[in-house]
Amino acid sequence: MFYRPEDGHGLPHDPMSALVMPRPVGWISSQDAAGRRNLAPFALFNLVAYQPPHVMFAPTGQAGGRFKDSLNNVEATGEFVANMATWALRDAVWHTSIPAPSDVDEFELAGLTPIPATIVAPPRVKESPVHLECTHVQTIRLPHVDPDNANHVVIGKVVGVHIDDSVITDGIVSEAALEPMARLGYLNYTRVTEVHAKPFPTWPPKKA
Ligand SMILES: Cc1cc2nc3c(=O)[nH]c(=O)nc-3n(C[C@H](O)[C@H](O)[C@H](O)COP(=O)(O)O)c2cc1C
Repeated sequence: MFYRPEDGHGLPHDPMSALVMPRPVGWISSQDAAGRRNLAPFALFNLVAYQPPHVMFAPTGQAGGRFKDSLNNVEATGEFVANMATWALRDAVWHTSIPAPSDVDEFELAGLTPIPATIVAPPRVKESPVHLECTHVQTIRLPHVDPDNANHVVIGKVVGVHIDDSVITDGIVSEAALEPMARLGYLNYTRVTEVHAKPFPTWPPKKA
C-alpha cells in the first residue's frame, strides 16, 4: 500500500508508530522555576550526537490547552535529566505518563526516589541505572496538523553521565543487563534481550 499522510491511511489504526521502531524511552525529569518536580516518558527520544553527546525528546502538541510540563520546564529552567527506562521499571514509567496537573510530582505519584544530580538542578530517578544530566541547547518548533497547535523537538547537551556500576562488566556497559524498554507500534512495547556484535565495513571491501 502507499498513502500520503494528509490523505489518510484507510486502516483502522494509524500505522506510523509501527513504521519507525523500536523507539527507546527517555524518562525525562525536570522541574519548574519554583523547583516543583516533574517526570514523564518520551519515546520520541534518541542520542543525536556523540562528541559532545546530545539527546533529543519530542513533546507532541498540547493537551487540555497547554503544552507538556516537560517542555515548559526545560524552556523555563534550561535543564533536564534523561533517565533510562528499563523493562524492570516499565510499570512506573507508564504510571508517570499520566496527564496530571503541572503541580503534581510524578516521583511521588509513582513511588520513585528523587536523588540530586551532580551538575543540573532537576533530580535523577534513583531506581533507574543510567542518568544523563542535560542542559538545554535548542527547541525546534514543528508544524502540527492543527494550525493552533505545535510539535516540539527539545535538544539537550549531555553534561554529566551516571552509570550504575553493576551493569559495567570488564569495562563494557552490558546492554542485556540494562534490559532497556522500547516502544513499538500502537500500544506495544518490547525490551532488549538479544545482542549481536558486528564491526563496521572498511574500504576496500574484504573478499568473501
Ligand atoms: C512509553 C511512553 C512514551 C511516550 N512518549 C511520548 C513522546 O515521545 N512524546 C509525547 O509528547 N508524549 C509521549 N508520551 C506521553 C507523555 O508521557 C504524557 O503526555 C505525559 O503526561 C507528559 O507529561 P508532562 O506534561 O509532565 O511533560 C509517552 C507515554 C508513554 C507511556
